[in-house]
Order: sequence, then structure tokens, then C-alpha cells
Amino acid sequence: MSGNFISFEGPDGAGKTSVIKALVAELKPSMGDQLVVTREPGGDPFSAKLRKILFDDANRGMDGRTEALLFAADRRHHVVSTIMPALAAGKTIFCDRYVDSSVAYQGGGRQLGEQEIWDINAFATNGVMPQLTVYFEIAPEVGIARIESHRTDQVNRLDEETMNFHHRVHAAYQHLYQQYPQRISRIDASKPLPKVIAETRRVIHDRFPDLFDGKTKGVN
Ligand code: TMP
Repeated sequence: MSGNFISFEGPDGAGKTSVIKALVAELKPSMGDQLVVTREPGGDPFSAKLRKILFDDANRGMDGRTEALLFAADRRHHVVSTIMPALAAGKTIFCDRYVDSSVAYQGGGRQLGEQEIWDINAFATNGVMPQLTVYFEIAPEVGIARIESHRTDQVNRLDEETMNFHHRVHAAYQHLYQQYPQRISRIDASKPLPKVIAETRRVIHDRFPDLFDGKTKGVN
């Protein structure tokens, strides 16, 4: 596999989606379809259906293991339909959430066990992992306050979990960062957005200098 696989992770309200947008706006003109921007759960129609099941209010009482397996099923589909073909074609993938989200939310937040979640995801991914994970670190209170202040009617079940749940998610992310310091770069997401964008750019540039030097083949 010759491409670059970069994932973006963090608790709700860390601002990762805004950072990804800013970097994509910078890179897309030179990279064209060499840059694949994707997210979990969901993207294509199959995943959109799973996303709907996962976040449907009617499924509020869903069993935790069922939820973990649905996220893993979505991931398997994503790996096969999007990630592996893009890597095989030498493309760069920006992926908004990947396995670490399941370890943090289902393993930590839902208390299903970090190792148990790794186990089902080893089956789902068959070992396909990002070379770099940018982890946006934010205190749960700050992240949740940000979400509250931008709240529209698009509230999802996981956003609405108790503060204890969000503390466990945060703790699991910190644990992942300690376990995988080579893969995971941590960024202080409590800083103003332009600073967080600049820092993320620096972290990606350090690992993949060609991306920002315009040396990656663009199509347009
Ligand atoms: P998003 O708002 O970044 O699209 O994420 C949707 C929610 O889904 C977010 O609260 C995190 C949660 N999630 C999990 O609980 N497990 C997972 O494996 C993934 C990918 C997301």
C-alpha cells in the first residue's frame, strides 16, 4: 500500500471537523482527487444507512455491544470500499474518526473494555491503520460547552451522554495517546482555531512534507 493514511480524532466539540475543512481547502487545489476526504460513520449510501440506525432516537436504548459491532461493520465496509482502494492507488486519506473513536467511545465511554473493542476492530480492519493520527485534546467540559453553544436540531445520542461518559471517553483517548506515541500526535484543541489549524498543519507537514510542498501529483 503506497498511500498516506491520516486520521483525526478527539472528543465531541474538539473542532476537528473545522480543522480538516481548512486543510482540505488548502490542499485540494493542488492535490485534486489524490486527496480523499472521508469520515466515520458514514460517507457512502451504505454507511449513511448504518449512521441513521446508530443515531436514530428510536434506538436510544441500543445495547452497547450491538452499537460497537455496528461501528465496526461500518468500518469494515469503509476499509474495503474506500480506504484500501485509495491506499493502493497511492492517494492520501484524511479520515475524520477511525478505530480510536470506537476504543474511546465504546471501550471507554460505554465501558465495554478497550481490549474487547480492539479485538473486534482487528477483525474489521484486518490491520489497516493510519500512519498518523492527529488527536485534538480538549477537556470534556469545554468540548460539551462548545457543542451546546452551536447546538442546532442535529443533536446525536452520543453528544447527549452524561458528563461521566465524556470523562471516560477523554481518559481512553489519553490512554491511547500514551500507548501509541509514534502514531498519535496530540494537539491542544482549547487554543483558538487558527492556532489549532497551524499546529495540525505542522504535525502533518513534519510527517508528510511532500503534501504541502506541492510535490504530490495533482490532477487539476
Ligand atoms: P461525528 O460527530 O464526528 O460525526 O461523530 C459522531 C459520533 O459518533 C461521535 O459522538 C463519536 C461517535 N462514534 C463512536 O461512538 N464510535 C465510533 O467508532 C465512531 C467512528 C464514532
